[in-house]
Amino acid sequence: MNVIYYFTGTGNTLFAAKKFAEAIGGAELIPIASLDRSEEVVFPPEAETVGIFSPVYCFGIPSIVGRMIERMKAPGRKVYTYCFLTSGGMKGYASQVLQEYLKRRGIALDGAFHVKMPSNYIPFSSPPSEERCQRLYKNAEQRIQYYAQYVLSGKKHRPVHVFPFDLVGELVARNAVSYLGDYDKYFWITEDCNGCELCEKICPASNIIIMNGMPTWRGHCEQCMACLQWCPKQAIQFKQITQKRKRYHHPDISAEELIRKDARD
Ligand SMILES: Cc1cc2nc3c(=O)[nH]c(=O)nc-3n(C[C@H](O)[C@H](O)[C@H](O)COP(=O)(O)O)c2cc1C
Ligand code: SF4
Ligand code: SF4
Repeated sequence: MNVIYYFTGTGNTLFAAKKFAEAIGGAELIPIASLDRSEEVVFPPEAETVGIFSPVYCFGIPSIVGRMIERMKAPGRKVYTYCFLTSGGMKGYASQVLQEYLKRRGIALDGAFHVKMPSNYIPFSSPPSEERCQRLYKNAEQRIQYYAQYVLSGKKHRPVHVFPFDLVGELVARNAVSYLGDYDKYFWITEDCNGCELCEKICPASNIIIMNGMPTWRGHCEQCMACLQWCPKQAIQFKQITQKRKRYHHPDISAEELIRKDARD
Protein backbone atom coordinates (compact mmCIF):
# COMPACT_ATOMS: atom_id res chain seq x y z
CA MET A 1 0.00 0.00 0.00
CA ASN A 2 1.23 3.51 -0.89
CA VAL A 3 0.46 6.55 1.26
CA ILE A 4 0.82 10.20 0.27
CA TYR A 5 0.57 13.13 2.69
CA TYR A 6 0.13 16.40 0.80
CA PHE A 7 -0.13 20.11 1.39
CA THR A 8 -1.36 22.50 -1.29
CA GLY A 9 -2.60 26.06 -1.58
CA THR A 10 -3.41 26.40 -5.25
CA GLY A 11 -3.50 22.79 -6.42
CA ASN A 12 -0.09 22.31 -8.08
CA THR A 13 1.08 19.89 -5.42
CA LEU A 14 -2.24 18.05 -5.26
CA PHE A 15 -2.11 17.65 -9.04
CA ALA A 16 1.41 16.20 -8.74
CA ALA A 17 0.28 13.90 -5.91
CA LYS A 18 -2.67 12.58 -7.90
CA LYS A 19 -0.57 11.94 -11.02
CA PHE A 20 2.18 10.32 -8.95
CA ALA A 21 -0.36 8.09 -7.22
CA GLU A 22 -1.58 6.90 -10.63
CA ALA A 23 2.00 6.28 -11.78
CA ILE A 24 2.83 4.05 -8.79
CA GLY A 25 -0.35 2.03 -9.09
CA GLY A 26 -2.51 3.90 -6.58
CA ALA A 27 -2.06 5.56 -3.19
CA GLU A 28 -4.12 6.79 -0.29
CA LEU A 29 -3.99 10.60 -0.45
CA ILE A 30 -4.08 12.30 2.96
CA PRO A 31 -4.43 16.10 3.17
CA ILE A 32 -2.07 17.49 5.84
CA ALA A 33 -4.54 20.34 6.41
CA SER A 34 -7.18 17.87 7.61
CA LEU A 35 -4.97 15.98 10.10
CA ASP A 36 -5.67 16.46 13.79
CA ARG A 37 -2.81 18.72 14.88
CA SER A 38 -2.64 17.30 18.39
CA GLU A 39 -2.18 13.69 17.28
CA GLU A 40 0.85 11.67 16.25
CA VAL A 41 1.11 10.84 12.55
CA VAL A 42 1.55 7.10 12.50
CA PHE A 43 2.29 5.37 9.18
CA PRO A 44 -0.57 2.98 8.39
CA PRO A 45 0.54 -0.61 9.23
CA GLU A 46 0.22 -1.73 5.58
CA ALA A 47 2.23 1.20 4.17
CA GLU A 48 5.13 0.16 1.94
CA THR A 49 5.88 3.63 0.64
CA VAL A 50 5.15 7.03 2.19
CA GLY A 51 5.40 10.28 0.22
CA ILE A 52 5.34 13.83 1.57
CA PHE A 53 4.18 16.23 -1.15
CA SER A 54 4.75 19.92 -0.51
CA PRO A 55 5.26 23.24 -2.26
CA VAL A 56 8.58 25.05 -1.70
CA TYR A 57 8.23 28.15 0.49
CA CYS A 58 11.15 30.60 0.77
CA PHE A 59 13.63 27.88 -0.32
CA GLY A 60 12.27 25.72 2.51
CA ILE A 61 8.99 24.00 3.36
CA PRO A 62 5.71 25.40 4.77
CA SER A 63 5.57 25.43 8.59
CA ILE A 64 2.53 23.15 8.60
CA VAL A 65 4.53 20.44 6.77
CA GLY A 66 7.42 20.72 9.24
CA ARG A 67 5.02 20.51 12.18
CA MET A 68 3.40 17.42 10.67
CA ILE A 69 6.77 15.68 10.36
CA GLU A 70 7.51 16.60 14.00
CA ARG A 71 4.48 14.47 14.92
CA MET A 72 5.48 11.53 12.71
CA LYS A 73 6.13 8.26 14.43
CA ALA A 74 8.83 6.09 12.94
CA PRO A 75 7.50 2.64 12.10
CA GLY A 76 9.39 -0.34 13.46
CA ARG A 77 10.16 -1.58 9.93
CA LYS A 78 11.55 -0.19 6.68
CA VAL A 79 9.17 1.94 4.63
CA TYR A 80 10.42 3.72 1.47
CA THR A 81 9.96 7.37 2.48
CA TYR A 82 10.28 10.20 -0.04
CA CYS A 83 9.41 13.82 -0.60
CA PHE A 84 8.03 15.41 -3.71
CA LEU A 85 8.30 19.19 -4.04
CA THR A 86 6.71 21.64 -6.45
CA SER A 87 8.12 25.13 -6.85
CA GLY A 88 8.21 28.10 -9.17
CA GLY A 89 11.67 26.95 -10.20
CA MET A 90 13.89 27.68 -7.20
CA LYS A 91 13.73 24.79 -4.80
CA GLY A 92 16.61 26.06 -2.68
CA TYR A 93 17.22 23.78 0.33
CA ALA A 94 13.70 22.49 0.74
CA SER A 95 14.49 18.79 0.37
CA GLN A 96 17.47 19.06 2.75
CA VAL A 97 15.28 20.86 5.31
CA LEU A 98 12.66 18.15 5.00
CA GLN A 99 15.33 15.48 5.34
CA GLU A 100 16.53 17.10 8.59
CA TYR A 101 13.00 17.10 9.99
CA LEU A 102 12.64 13.39 9.19
CA LYS A 103 16.06 12.56 10.60
CA ARG A 104 15.07 14.05 13.95
CA ARG A 105 12.16 11.56 13.97
CA GLY A 106 14.51 8.68 13.13
CA ILE A 107 13.18 8.37 9.57
CA ALA A 108 15.51 8.23 6.56
CA LEU A 109 14.61 10.08 3.36
CA ASP A 110 14.98 7.55 0.52
CA GLY A 111 13.83 9.74 -2.36
CA ALA A 112 13.72 13.50 -3.01
CA PHE A 113 11.95 14.66 -6.17
CA HIS A 114 11.07 18.10 -7.52
CA VAL A 115 9.12 19.58 -10.41
CA LYS A 116 8.79 23.14 -11.58
CA MET A 117 5.25 24.52 -11.71
CA PRO A 118 3.72 27.99 -12.19
CA SER A 119 4.56 30.18 -9.20
CA ASN A 120 1.50 31.04 -7.15
CA TYR A 121 3.13 33.74 -4.99
CA ILE A 122 1.14 36.64 -6.39
CA PRO A 123 2.73 39.33 -4.18
CA PHE A 124 5.94 38.71 -6.19
CA SER A 125 4.50 38.22 -9.66
CA SER A 126 1.53 37.44 -11.88
CA PRO A 127 1.29 33.81 -13.00
CA PRO A 128 3.07 32.80 -16.21
CA SER A 129 1.14 32.91 -19.51
CA GLU A 130 -1.35 30.15 -20.27
CA GLU A 131 1.05 28.69 -22.85
CA ARG A 132 3.92 28.62 -20.37
CA CYS A 133 1.70 26.98 -17.74
CA GLN A 134 0.74 24.23 -20.20
CA ARG A 135 4.40 23.57 -20.98
CA LEU A 136 5.20 23.35 -17.26
CA TYR A 137 2.33 20.90 -16.63
CA LYS A 138 3.43 18.69 -19.53
CA ASN A 139 7.02 18.67 -18.39
CA ALA A 140 5.95 17.94 -14.80
CA GLU A 141 3.90 14.95 -15.94
CA GLN A 142 6.93 13.51 -17.74
CA ARG A 143 9.12 13.97 -14.66
CA ILE A 144 6.46 12.32 -12.53
CA GLN A 145 6.52 9.18 -14.72
CA TYR A 146 10.32 9.13 -14.47
CA TYR A 147 10.46 9.65 -10.68
CA ALA A 148 7.76 7.06 -10.08
CA GLN A 149 10.20 4.40 -11.28
CA TYR A 150 12.43 5.15 -8.28
CA VAL A 151 9.60 4.55 -5.85
CA LEU A 152 8.41 1.43 -7.68
CA SER A 153 11.89 -0.10 -7.68
CA GLY A 154 12.89 1.17 -4.22
CA LYS A 155 15.91 2.94 -5.73
CA LYS A 156 17.37 5.82 -3.68
CA HIS A 157 17.36 9.41 -4.95
CA ARG A 158 18.69 11.53 -2.12
CA PRO A 159 19.24 15.29 -1.89
CA VAL A 160 22.81 16.44 -2.53
CA HIS A 161 24.41 17.93 0.59
CA VAL A 162 27.14 20.52 0.20
CA PHE A 163 28.71 21.60 3.49
CA PRO A 164 28.59 24.42 4.69
CA PHE A 165 25.93 25.67 2.23
CA ASP A 166 23.39 23.28 3.71
CA LEU A 167 23.68 24.84 7.15
CA VAL A 168 23.25 28.33 5.73
CA GLY A 169 20.44 27.14 3.47
CA GLU A 170 18.55 25.53 6.33
CA LEU A 171 18.94 28.66 8.44
CA VAL A 172 17.66 30.94 5.67
CA ALA A 173 14.80 28.61 4.72
CA ARG A 174 13.64 28.14 8.31
CA ASN A 175 13.90 31.81 9.27
CA ALA A 176 12.18 33.17 6.18
CA VAL A 177 9.23 30.79 6.63
CA SER A 178 8.87 31.67 10.31
CA TYR A 179 8.10 35.29 9.36
CA LEU A 180 5.08 34.35 7.26
CA GLY A 181 2.68 33.68 10.17
CA ASP A 182 1.43 37.22 10.56
CA TYR A 183 1.71 38.28 6.93
CA ASP A 184 -2.06 37.90 6.83
CA LYS A 185 -2.16 41.43 8.27
CA TYR A 186 -1.57 42.58 4.67
CA PHE A 187 -4.78 40.97 3.36
CA TRP A 188 -7.83 43.15 2.85
CA ILE A 189 -11.15 42.72 1.09
CA THR A 190 -12.98 44.78 -1.46
CA GLU A 191 -16.71 45.44 -1.50
CA ASP A 192 -17.10 42.55 -4.00
CA CYS A 193 -17.03 40.01 -1.14
CA ASN A 194 -20.41 38.29 -0.97
CA GLY A 195 -19.79 36.33 2.23
CA CYS A 196 -19.73 32.93 0.46
CA GLU A 197 -17.36 31.52 3.15
CA LEU A 198 -15.19 29.62 0.68
CA CYS A 199 -12.03 31.30 2.04
CA GLU A 200 -12.84 30.10 5.56
CA LYS A 201 -13.49 26.51 4.44
CA ILE A 202 -10.50 26.28 2.15
CA CYS A 203 -7.84 27.81 4.42
CA PRO A 204 -5.51 24.90 5.28
CA ALA A 205 -4.37 26.64 8.46
CA SER A 206 -7.93 27.27 9.78
CA ASN A 207 -6.80 30.89 9.93
CA ILE A 208 -9.95 32.56 8.63
CA ILE A 209 -13.32 33.05 10.27
CA ILE A 210 -16.27 34.78 8.73
CA MET A 211 -17.52 37.51 11.03
CA ASN A 212 -20.44 39.74 10.10
CA GLY A 213 -20.39 38.11 6.65
CA MET A 214 -16.74 38.93 5.96
CA PRO A 215 -13.42 37.10 6.44
CA THR A 216 -11.16 37.90 9.38
CA TRP A 217 -7.59 36.59 9.49
CA ARG A 218 -6.24 35.30 12.79
CA GLY A 219 -2.46 35.66 12.56
CA HIS A 220 -1.34 32.08 12.01
CA CYS A 221 -1.13 32.12 8.25
CA GLU A 222 0.92 29.79 6.03
CA GLN A 223 0.84 32.36 3.17
CA CYS A 224 -0.34 29.57 0.86
CA MET A 225 -2.41 32.13 -1.09
CA ALA A 226 -5.41 29.80 -1.29
CA CYS A 227 -7.86 32.40 0.10
CA LEU A 228 -6.73 35.07 -2.32
CA GLN A 229 -6.31 32.83 -5.36
CA TRP A 230 -9.59 30.90 -5.04
CA CYS A 231 -11.95 33.72 -3.97
CA PRO A 232 -14.65 33.57 -6.67
CA LYS A 233 -15.17 37.34 -6.48
CA GLN A 234 -11.44 38.19 -6.51
CA ALA A 235 -12.28 40.22 -3.43
CA ILE A 236 -9.11 39.43 -1.45
CA GLN A 237 -6.09 41.65 -1.99
CA PHE A 238 -2.55 41.70 -0.59
CA LYS A 239 -1.17 45.18 0.15
CA GLN A 240 -1.69 47.42 -2.89
CA ILE A 241 -0.03 45.09 -5.39
CA THR A 242 -2.57 42.46 -6.38
CA GLN A 243 -5.59 44.41 -7.65
CA LYS A 244 -4.55 44.09 -11.29
CA ARG A 245 -2.82 40.70 -11.09
CA LYS A 246 -4.43 37.64 -12.61
CA ARG A 247 -5.43 34.90 -10.14
CA TYR A 248 -3.97 31.42 -10.41
CA HIS A 249 -4.89 27.90 -9.42
CA HIS A 250 -4.21 24.61 -11.12
CA PRO A 251 -6.86 24.07 -13.84
CA ASP A 252 -7.40 20.36 -13.06
CA ILE A 253 -8.01 20.85 -9.34
CA SER A 254 -11.31 22.13 -7.94
CA ALA A 255 -11.92 24.28 -4.88
CA GLU A 256 -14.12 21.47 -3.51
CA GLU A 257 -11.06 19.18 -3.30
CA LEU A 258 -9.33 21.68 -1.00
CA ILE A 259 -12.09 22.18 1.55
CA ARG A 260 -10.88 20.95 4.94
CA LYS A 261 -12.73 17.94 6.32
CA ASP A 262 -13.53 19.79 9.56
CA ALA A 263 -15.03 22.66 7.55
CA ARG A 264 -17.77 20.60 5.91
CA ASP A 265 -21.26 21.20 7.26
C1 LIG B 1 4.80 31.71 0.60
C2 LIG B 1 5.35 31.16 -0.68
C3 LIG B 1 6.71 31.06 -0.86
C4 LIG B 1 7.22 30.53 -2.05
N1 LIG B 1 8.57 30.40 -2.18
C5 LIG B 1 9.08 29.85 -3.31
C6 LIG B 1 10.49 29.65 -3.42
O1 LIG B 1 11.29 29.88 -2.52
N2 LIG B 1 10.95 29.15 -4.62
C7 LIG B 1 10.11 28.83 -5.65
O2 LIG B 1 10.58 28.40 -6.69
N3 LIG B 1 8.76 28.98 -5.55
C8 LIG B 1 8.23 29.47 -4.39
N4 LIG B 1 6.86 29.60 -4.26
C9 LIG B 1 5.98 29.10 -5.36
C10 LIG B 1 5.40 27.72 -5.03
O3 LIG B 1 6.38 26.87 -4.47
C11 LIG B 1 4.80 27.02 -6.26
O4 LIG B 1 3.98 27.83 -7.00
C12 LIG B 1 4.07 25.74 -5.84
O5 LIG B 1 3.92 24.91 -6.96
C13 LIG B 1 2.70 26.04 -5.24
O6 LIG B 1 2.09 24.81 -4.90
P1 LIG B 1 0.54 24.64 -4.58
O7 LIG B 1 -0.22 25.10 -5.82
O8 LIG B 1 0.38 23.21 -4.32
O9 LIG B 1 0.23 25.50 -3.42
C14 LIG B 1 6.34 30.12 -3.09
C15 LIG B 1 4.96 30.22 -2.90
C16 LIG B 1 4.45 30.72 -1.71
C17 LIG B 1 2.96 30.79 -1.54
S1 SF4 C 1 -14.16 33.66 -0.70
FE1 SF4 C 1 -14.18 35.83 -1.33
S2 SF4 C 1 -16.33 36.30 -1.62
FE2 SF4 C 1 -16.27 34.41 -0.41
S3 SF4 C 1 -16.30 35.13 1.76
FE3 SF4 C 1 -14.16 34.92 1.19
S4 SF4 C 1 -13.56 36.96 0.48
FE4 SF4 C 1 -15.78 36.91 0.48
S1 SF4 D 1 -5.18 32.81 5.47
FE1 SF4 D 1 -5.08 32.55 3.26
S2 SF4 D 1 -2.90 32.56 2.79
FE2 SF4 D 1 -3.08 32.25 5.01
S3 SF4 D 1 -3.05 30.02 5.27
FE3 SF4 D 1 -5.19 30.62 5.10
S4 SF4 D 1 -5.71 30.42 2.93
FE4 SF4 D 1 -3.47 30.41 3.12
